[in-house]
Amino acid sequence: MTEAVLLVGGRGTRLRPLTVNTPKPMVPAAGVPFLAHQLARLKAAGVEHVVLATSYLAEVFEPYFGNGAALGLRLTYVTEREPLGTGGAIRSAATALTSGPADPVLVLNGDILTGLDTADLVRRHEAAGAAVTLHLTRVEDPRAFGLVPTDASGRVLAFTEKPTSPEEIVTDQINAGCYVFRRDVIDAIPAGRPVSVERETFPGLLADGAHLLGVVDRTYWLDLGRPDSFVQASADLVRGVVTSPAVPGPPGEALVLPGAQVADGAKLGGGTVVGAGAVVDADAVVEGSILLDGARVEAGAWVGHSLVGAGARVGARTVLDGAVVGDGAVVGADNELRNGVRVWCDTRLPDASVRFSADC
Ligand code: GTP
Repeated sequence: MTEAVLLVGGRGTRLRPLTVNTPKPMVPAAGVPFLAHQLARLKAAGVEHVVLATSYLAEVFEPYFGNGAALGLRLTYVTEREPLGTGGAIRSAATALTSGPADPVLVLNGDILTGLDTADLVRRHEAAGAAVTLHLTRVEDPRAFGLVPTDASGRVLAFTEKPTSPEEIVTDQINAGCYVFRRDVIDAIPAGRPVSVERETFPGLLADGAHLLGVVDRTYWLDLGRPDSFVQASADLVRGVVTSPAVPGPPGEALVLPGAQVADGAKLGGGTVVGAGAVVDADAVVEGSILLDGARVEAGAWVGHSLVGAGARVGARTVLDGAVVGDGAVVGADNELRNGVRVWCDTRLPDASVRFSADC
């Protein structure tokens, strides 16, 4: 049975302030920590043992997921004292694997939501006899990703991390953050020092003539590294655009967790989540957004494609469009916050203090 390593130790800087108190994989999407979706999907794909490679805020994972029995999995935690990067983390996590040298090991970034059939990726890896098989997806603008051109048989030709010049953009195929490694390839990664698989291990293997297979698959795929994509992923899970056995409710336009209060006349839609103990007051509209536990949206406010942190408040008639409000922050009444603005945790914005338009 294939084992898996999940990389969950990154600092999640692009997702701040959501990741100030919580590591990225533990930020709730569709009502549960995002990691719960990945674990449930691995379980559904037949994986029995998952090694979680933790580092940043490592102490929060085990109290939540324990030994994995509740999920029908066996979970092992391997923590780096100093973050070792993606390759170093895989190498360190391998100490907890039981697979033999030629066995396939699934390795996944902890911030990817995908409908990929991982069991099929393993089958293709074994049929090709590859050293590493990479899931590749196609995106319109590949500049923020690692480019991976392949030949007609799927053999990887090059790795270009975050291309800067137009000449470097030779393909729209990008590294989708899900791999199958032959176990002995992991064991050959240098131990005890930072290593990036994307910048060091994969280019090194390629230079040595190793067989690296790229499998292009256009199934649902989203990198949750940025707040807008995180909010989008949650909404897609709630609406059933992509499925996860861990969503605590049937697919629909909104997921209201136990203990939340939604006033008559408030409108929820677009895959919104109202967290436990959160409150939405009368005539407020919440569209495609995440309200974390204990958040409050006051009367007449409009919240779209935004995330409101745990215990945070959005004042009456305030508009949030593509905004992130950190845990415990208070946005007063009659504000207008748009376009990716981030309000830091515990900040207090007075009434009518920020607008994006001239009307008042
Ligand atoms: P940003 O800081 O916003 O770039 O996010 P990140 O820290 O998560 O980095 P990135 O998105 O490049 O990481 C890809 C995956 O590898 C994520 O699932 C991270 O949690 C994980 N990761 C990155 N660096 C480390 C590390 O040093 N140790 C471990 N255990 N995991 C890591």
